Amino acid sequence: MIIAVDGPTASGKGTIAVQLARHFGLPHLDTGLLYRAVGRQVWLNGGDPDNETDALAACAFDDALLDDPELRTEANGGLASRVSVHPAVREALLERQRAFANQPGGAVLDGRDIGTVIAPEAEVKLFITASVQERARRRWLEMTGREIEIPLAEIEADIVKRDARDINRKDAPLKAAPDAMVIDTTSFDKDQAFELVLEAVEQAFG
Ligand code: DC
Repeated sequence: MIIAVDGPTASGKGTIAVQLARHFGLPHLDTGLLYRAVGRQVWLNGGDPDNETDALAACAFDDALLDDPELRTEANGGLASRVSVHPAVREALLERQRAFANQPGGAVLDGRDIGTVIAPEAEVKLFITASVQERARRRWLEMTGREIEIPLAEIEADIVKRDARDINRKDAPLKAAPDAMVIDTTSFDKDQAFELVLEAVEQAFG
């Protein structure tokens, strides 16, 4: 069984994907991390994330980079969003994601285009969303927990910018697959959101 979990930044899709993988005993891939590694590698190369050639060269990152804590920073999220606009970058990362999705037994993948491009054949497609204000609040709490001082308004502005870039890019934009279950987690905490998701999945599949 392939489970595709898509949605905008800080929607809770990552947590839900991890919980689903644990629940169904499936391997999980956070595909955003691949784009984050490319963004980081461009920066390490001294390249320009908006230049397709520089961004493509950064796709040859060493897998050890995937463990770099810098990948998770807001600044690197912005770089990831910028390199993800380039069709050549998306193409370079495609096979790795498809192979993961198609491994025997199935998998859970979370990202922006899993249900639409990477695994349109997925048996379960979820599109997890939440209001911009709530997503900003969650990200701010997470940052404060890591003792990173950043004004809430700055995070909110960054999320709005990143959403616009992810939604409006030509190639594999962020959007719900027509057959995806759309779940809005704005008024739910992590446990409630997972319950909601599990109910939706179980209802759809008996
Ligand atoms: O999910 P995330 O915040 O870690 O993703 C970082 C960026 O990577 C996101 O802004 C857009 C890009 N991305 C993508 O284009 N396609 C994916 N499947 C996953 C992430």
